[in-house]
Amino acid sequence: MTDVDWDAEAASFDEEPDHGLRDPGVRRAWAGRLRDWLPGRPGDVLDLGCGTGSLSLLASEQGHRVTGVDASPAMVTLAREKLAGRDAVFLLGDAAAPPVGERRFDAVLVRHVLWALPDPGRALRHWYGLLRPGGRLVLVEGVWGSVQPVGIPAERLTGLLAPVAGRVRVQRLSDDPLLWGGPVADERYAVVAPSDGSGQERGEVAAPGE
Ligand SMILES: C[S@@+](CC[C@H](N)C(=O)[O-])C[C@H]1O[C@@H](n2cnc3c(N)ncnc32)[C@H](O)[C@@H]1O
Repeated sequence: MTDVDWDAEAASFDEEPDHGLRDPGVRRAWAGRLRDWLPGRPGDVLDLGCGTGSLSLLASEQGHRVTGVDASPAMVTLAREKLAGRDAVFLLGDAAAPPVGERRFDAVLVRHVLWALPDPGRALRHWYGLLRPGGRLVLVEGVWGSVQPVGIPAERLTGLLAPVAGRVRVQRLSDDPLLWGGPVADERYAVVAPSDGSGQERGEVAAPGE
């Protein structure tokens, strides 16, 4: 994926069920997960590598103010269109060093982007520093394919987070076909890392790799 031409992918990106969230069941499934992962009160959400803005839109519908960042101008254009008229801004920039100045956020949301960054550990440290007290990182990642798998296993991600965050919550997502528009056999998961390091605000604390 690191050499994917995202501008070229943008026009058809939303055709995948979990990208465009066009199917009401898939959309509901992601909305439910986001409601669980994001703060309960409306807050400032930074969506890094936001793509066409599908998760940004769900977050906005749940009352959050969204800032999206993507390196692809075509993706940013589509995200701006998708969230036109909402309390949301989309910036062209590097997810690893987003152009947000001194702003701080209640949640930094990153789906399917971290694994392709050249130095994911460094990005995680930077993102953690963008959180307000009580904020959280929400990372959705996986390992895709069986012949030449690509991605980042949960165990590696939680290992990278260990020096930065306290206890984190790992949620397996492979067994929920509603999220993907059908059954999947590979590894898919979310990690929620609270900035206070307690990891216990919603229960379900899991050891890395569980
Ligand atoms: C698989 S898509 C995920 C899009 C969105 N997060 C989602 O889940 O629907 C990866 C996105 O990350 C963006 N991207 C990849 N590397 C990036 C980087 N270094 N900085 C900013 N965006 C990046 C791509 O342009 C693309 O929009």
